[in-house]
Amino acid sequence: MQVVVLLGSPRKGGNSETLAGKVAERVEQAGGTVNWIRLNDLSLRPCQGCGGCDKTGSCVVKDDMGAIYQAVDQADCVFLVSPVYFYGLSAQCKTCGDRFQARWARKYLLKERFRQGEGRKGYLLATAATSGQKIFDCSILTSRYIFDALDLEYGGELVVKGVDKRKAILDHPEELARAEAFADMLLASHQGRRER
Ligand SMILES: Cc1cc2nc3c(=O)[nH]c(=O)nc-3n(C[C@H](O)[C@H](O)[C@H](O)COP(=O)(O)O)c2cc1C
Repeated sequence: MQVVVLLGSPRKGGNSETLAGKVAERVEQAGGTVNWIRLNDLSLRPCQGCGGCDKTGSCVVKDDMGAIYQAVDQADCVFLVSPVYFYGLSAQCKTCGDRFQARWARKYLLKERFRQGEGRKGYLLATAATSGQKIFDCSILTSRYIFDALDLEYGGELVVKGVDKRKAILDHPEELARAEAFADMLLASHQGRRER
């Protein structure tokens, strides 16, 4: 299984990255490969809303997004990893997500389905400082829509609230255990898919 991690926090070794690391570790132990893409290190222009992709399914803006399109197309599984910023995804994730408009155009305007029936899935992994009931709602909705544009089934989310300082999540072994259980669930669902 090939996993692409779209890492949306600017904070190296932060909570969302640590959470994703736990899941990724398990995937690698099971023989999968994990390709980390640190969005904050890339040069990504926001979508210009130019409609350039409407007829081709390709973005006219040439920047580091080209490598992301390729990586995501090759992946069996995509993790969108984000801290909650003002009740939504980080700007790094949102900028990348908006650029998937080209994939939305490929699917909905050009009616080109991509690797359909292969059980490819997208997952949201997110952390937040507070513990409001709706703290992840916006991130989940946006992620679902992004994965749909990529022709990935939404596999679900792994979210941890109440963690703020860098690595605060390490003080919550129960959340790290939950990440391992999440990875096992994910691996079983992809394994089951291959065996059908
Ligand atoms: C610009 C900014 C906005 C934030 N907005 C929220 C918010 O709306 N709700 C919340 O619970 N936490 C918010 N936080 C806190 C982060 O979500 C939290 O610290 C998270 O665990 C950081 O993950 P990271 O270490 O992977 O970056 C915000 C942090 C920053 C820097």
